[in-house]
Amino acid sequence: AEIDHIRNFCIIAHVDHGKTTLSDRLLEQTRTVQQREMKEQLLDSMDLERERGITIKSHPVSMIYEHEGKEYLLNLIDTPGHVDFSYEVSRSLAACEGALLLIDAAQGIEAQTVANANLAMAQDLEIIPVINKVDLPSANPEAIEHQIEEILALPREDTIRASGKSGIGIQDILSAVVNRLPPPRWAIFPQARVLVFDATYDAFKGVICYIRIFSGEIKKNDEIVFMGSGTKTTVKEIGRFSPQMISEKSMTAGRTGYLVTAIKELSQIKIGDTITLTSEPAKEPLPGYKEVRPMVFSGVYPLDTNDYTKLKTGVAKLQMNDAALTFQAESSAALGFGFRCGFLGLLHMEIVQERLRREYDLDIISTYPSVVYKVTKSDGSIINVDNPLFLPDPGEIEQVEEPTIRATIHTPNGCIGDILALVSEKRGFCDHTETVDADRVMLVCTLPLNEILIDFNDRLKSITKGYGSMDYELGDYQPGDLVRLDILVNSEPVDAFASIVHRDKAASRGRALCERLKEILPQQMFKVAIQASVGSNIVARESLSALRKDVTAKCYGGDITRKRKLLEKQKEGKKRMKQIGKVAIPQDAFVKVLKTS
Ligand code: GTP
Repeated sequence: AEIDHIRNFCIIAHVDHGKTTLSDRLLEQTRTVQQREMKEQLLDSMDLERERGITIKSHPVSMIYEHEGKEYLLNLIDTPGHVDFSYEVSRSLAACEGALLLIDAAQGIEAQTVANANLAMAQDLEIIPVINKVDLPSANPEAIEHQIEEILALPREDTIRASGKSGIGIQDILSAVVNRLPPPRWAIFPQARVLVFDATYDAFKGVICYIRIFSGEIKKNDEIVFMGSGTKTTVKEIGRFSPQMISEKSMTAGRTGYLVTAIKELSQIKIGDTITLTSEPAKEPLPGYKEVRPMVFSGVYPLDTNDYTKLKTGVAKLQMNDAALTFQAESSAALGFGFRCGFLGLLHMEIVQERLRREYDLDIISTYPSVVYKVTKSDGSIINVDNPLFLPDPGEIEQVEEPTIRATIHTPNGCIGDILALVSEKRGFCDHTETVDADRVMLVCTLPLNEILIDFNDRLKSITKGYGSMDYELGDYQPGDLVRLDILVNSEPVDAFASIVHRDKAASRGRALCERLKEILPQQMFKVAIQASVGSNIVARESLSALRKDVTAKCYGGDITRKRKLLEKQKEGKKRMKQIGKVAIPQDAFVKVLKTS
């Protein structure tokens, strides 16, 4: 197609507002896939995505659409809706000229609707607001139109009412894409510039880059260079997604598709990088490249130490398809050999752990998640600490800084008080509030990232009975009175339980951990002290009373082989014990404590 007949667009929305379902309808309407091939939610290819109903990777697809006797090439890029993947969202947006902004007709505008709309506006995209799911009995499109005007400052005349389920409005959406979105921009740049907006690993082809060609032409066998990393390579294959990969001889400005080179490792590709031709290189890359850095770290250990190699293989394989995941070998006295893994956020962490369990059949324990602290030492040097064990002694520390976030929280009016209390309990404060409509308000808050890692979202959902939502972006590093909290069992520190906390919270968190451990640890033949300490200062303590000697004598008088079998069985269960000084701690105690702390 000529460049004037190409449109590149994406669909953005809050989670569950119906992106995937609507994309499927567009594919059907343009006969990109035949109805009989149509599996529900075709674009959510990963099992886990299908199951959890969330999109993790962006899936581009090219469609041919006939409009007033002319053929148009429409390239749709589905985007992940979750905050953890906001960098992927903004990369996908950068590949487009326009966006369909879906809003659930019953739910209305939510935190990620605003966040995504802002991302799209920041990239100068033309936005088509779509009120989706109008088939629902509880749909209230008038109210949503009002919100669109009030909160997003988009004219209500621009909105389209649609339903991915019943097919209402699909034709209107396609016409609007052609008529209202501009043709591909920046095409008259003198040299070739190609944006890599995503990449995935394929066992046969190696790394597959998802690309948008902004200017120039790329052919098979062309010599290319990745401008950010400096890597030079040859184009082995180039083509479009339809939605399966279909190779072409060459692709020109305005097109979206994929590119395969000799590169075999995903870690060599930087998402957001610009590709140009070696023969006639562009001097300036495309705007807006940003390196993704993991924000949350956790130790991941095999439950059975014999599974170490299996875990290593699993993590390495996952990384091949997930450039945002990092890992490094580490060991723990309590848990043995494992890896310190870095994740974009909590959901990303959960997904990786779940995939290790499922796809690699591994039983794993993960330690309490940690953010990256910036520590200025007394000698003036600055180090990054992502593992509590590496926090220097208090005497060597000048200052500890922690990452903060700017959270946008949408909540029903009636919950504001409880939300503010939650924010302040988490050491945050509210910068300002904005009215969304008669029933809802938006709070913009600053919070330490560390404080939202565990239960913030769950608490938010429970306070608002599911009606609240949150989105966040990273803020600055801010100094805080942060200390390492150690847990000692029988005076021996247990490294897996160490964490970095604010001094004001050390005692309460220490108490909670000690109480939990007391419930979980089996009694020993002697009394065991369970303590929480900050440096040499004990901030909480519990004691586990000794087993009474005669308990073992209270054997029942069954036959001897049955009794032996029983003992065998008990031994089996105890095999997975970790010796901490004189005390043996069963493996599952770690799981229980780390899960609930
Ligand atoms: P993420 O990829 O996680 O962001 O979700 P999504 O926005 O792609 O939403 P998805 O298409 O998975 O739909 C979410 C839920 O809404 C599913 O249960 C769908 O069946 C339902 N749904 C989607 N579109 C419609 C619609 O037009 N009408 C009705 N009634 N339900 C819909």
